[in-house]
Amino acid sequence: MDIREAITGRRAVRDYSAQAIDERTIRGLIDAAVQAPSAVNQQPWTFTVVRDQGVLDRISRDAKAHMLATMPASPHSDHFRSMLGDPTYQIFYRAPVLIVISAIAQGPWIVEDCTLAAENLMLAAYAAGLGSCWIGFAQSFLNTAEGKNALGLPGAWVPVAPIIVGHAKAAPPPVPRKPPEIRWVG
Ligand SMILES: Cc1cc2nc3c(=O)[nH]c(=O)nc-3n(C[C@H](O)[C@H](O)[C@H](O)COP(=O)(O)O)c2cc1C
Repeated sequence: MDIREAITGRRAVRDYSAQAIDERTIRGLIDAAVQAPSAVNQQPWTFTVVRDQGVLDRISRDAKAHMLATMPASPHSDHFRSMLGDPTYQIFYRAPVLIVISAIAQGPWIVEDCTLAAENLMLAAYAAGLGSCWIGFAQSFLNTAEGKNALGLPGAWVPVAPIIVGHAKAAPPPVPRKPPEIRWVG
């Protein structure tokens, strides 16, 4: 697929079929992720693949409760509160796979490194005919001792990017972008 088509065509997918994603496909996405640049070529990322829906249900429940208890006020908090308070809302949209990209230790650029890997992974998923979505609602819980324990992550690891992947039930409509504000200097 042409790079421009992948960049403009990728969408956050929130409605998935139950069709499983095979291990080879998941490994292919992770191989694309690790092609990302990283500061001082540290490649600090590690990938945790969760396919057990019982585990995803439990993490969703605990992440919602954690968000509701700790979320600071923001222009979106009312909307978030009503979503997170809905017992039928599963933050992973029942996607067949969650891939959590974590850093193996603290460092000055781990968020940038893992985020670049995440974008590669999402673009590769789109090029492979799959949907994906970054699940920020999972992040604060996954960074607690209880959240790391739920995934079997060592305490020193830093979960950065929880990405769901699966077959989209339908293609989401385009999401308009604001015109970029550009200032030319010189
Ligand atoms: C850091 C980050 C966190 C996000 N968290 C969530 C989330 O928790 N739930 C969700 O449905 N979408 C989440 N998204 C997806 C965004 O809402 C989506 O990317 C945005 O609306 C633009 O749509 P597009 O990805 O289709 O272009 C997140 C995206 C990013 C980059």
